[in-house]
Amino acid sequence: MNKLAKDCLSFSKSGDLNRTEEDIGRIIEELLSLITPHADLNGVNIYLTMSGSCPQILVDRDKLKQALLNIILNAIEAMTDGGNIAITVSRKDSYLNIFIKDTGPGIPDELHDKIFGLFYSTKSGGTG
Ligand SMILES: Nc1ncnc2c1ncn2[C@@H]1O[C@H](COP(=O)(O)OP(=O)(O)OP(=O)(O)O)[C@@H](O)[C@H]1O
Ligand SMILES: [Mg+2]
Repeated sequence: MNKLAKDCLSFSKSGDLNRTEEDIGRIIEELLSLITPHADLNGVNIYLTMSGSCPQILVDRDKLKQALLNIILNAIEAMTDGGNIAITVSRKDSYLNIFIKDTGPGIPDELHDKIFGLFYSTKSGGTG
């Protein structure tokens, strides 16, 4: 119930961005120090590649961290026998691309249209 309440709260506040100038490398490093012990316990290795120099970006650091954390947790949960997660950050014109790839089974084709639906989950207890 706590998690559900928190998720609803963070969704309801999602329009409210608090953007500051940040170093993307630092944000991801902080996130990795948080998640690595949990990944280790699940036999998952996380590799980060920052290609080229990444400029400061204007971003809501808490929301970005939350989004990346959710994606990484999804990858860990999908790889029940362990595996690898590769995070690649690269610059493209005025954009920053962040790719997150795992060695799990992948998201089934029939779910592709559904996973961005609010509160869609295939997990018991998942809030989506
Ligand atoms: N890396 C992945 N590999 C395979 N399936 C995935 C992956 N990421 C997401 N999915 C699928 O997409 C669904 C939706 O993911 P989402 O994070 O929105 O919700 P959830 O993980 O089910 O719930 P919660 O995030 O609240 O724990 C998951 O239930 C899972 O079936
Ligand atoms: Mg999830």
